[in-house]
Amino acid sequence: MSFGSVKQVTMSAEEFRLFRDMIHAHCGIYFREEMKYLLERRLAPRLSLNGLEDFTAYYRFLRFSPARARELEDAVEILTTNETYFFREAYQLKAFSEEILAELHERNSRRKRLRIWSAGCSTGEEPYSISILVLESGLFGDWDVEIFGNDISRKVLSAARRAVYSKNAFRETDEEQIRKWFEPVGGGLQVKEEARRLVTFGHLNLLDEQMIGLVGQMDLIFCRNVLIYFDKDAKKRVLRVFHDRLQPGGYLLLGHSESLINLTSDFELMHLKNDLVYRKPFLEDLS
Ligand SMILES: C[S@@+](CC[C@H](N)C(=O)[O-])C[C@H]1O[C@@H](n2cnc3c(N)ncnc32)[C@H](O)[C@@H]1O
Repeated sequence: MSFGSVKQVTMSAEEFRLFRDMIHAHCGIYFREEMKYLLERRLAPRLSLNGLEDFTAYYRFLRFSPARARELEDAVEILTTNETYFFREAYQLKAFSEEILAELHERNSRRKRLRIWSAGCSTGEEPYSISILVLESGLFGDWDVEIFGNDISRKVLSAARRAVYSKNAFRETDEEQIRKWFEPVGGGLQVKEEARRLVTFGHLNLLDEQMIGLVGQMDLIFCRNVLIYFDKDAKKRVLRVFHDRLQPGGYLLLGHSESLINLTSDFELMHLKNDLVYRKPFLEDLS
């Protein structure tokens, strides 16, 4: 007799390879063999939700169903890691606020325009931290400033637009900054309008070349703790996009455990006082 217990569905090695390759081709995230259990555990609930018996049926659904695009988005949504918090990687943000912003201010002083992209922004803590630092610098008062936050997950983007955060998001934020830039809203703290105003969010898959074509020229790109989940080939593709989207002399800031070694020589490594960062060379440096 059955007491309504949930049937355990296992993923075969062959099924794992099919899902791994499909997800990799779609968004760059690469699951190594030892992560099979993770794929199996996270995707299993999608089977019963779609009334499917096993992973082969789910794979066919993702390939051929009229609802496949939406389902693939939902599957990727549950496979991404969205960990983030305000003012993550303090030394890098110190280089950004004390060195890079001053340089960009000088460089763009005629156009008075600043464009920053937070690629893989998750729930928004990164682009809002950038916005706060731009405002605190006091350099860009009458400038046209835009900070774009993009992510492949619609769920994190709707949280980012709400801009309301709980304690966990503030593990690296000092009291003074909390008082200055956040206000209590329904049990959480919301980023004040002044800092929200500079930030625009959009849904974007970094591997979708058509959509990427719509991204304008940037002075600086933050892409931190995103490429670590990609394989080498997908990293290279995204780095070519970043190179293309950056102004000459534009900066690329990666996560602290990430580097461009063995991936590309298109960027130069800059030894700033507070951190090492990458920069797209100026045209005259290439001669
Ligand atoms: C660990 S979070 C990093 C958040 C933030 N950059 C930080 O360092 O705190 C990685 C984010 O990258 C997003 N992501 C993964 N693959 C992506 C893709 N192909 N295109 C856009 N975003 C992607 C995930 O949805 C996730 O929100």
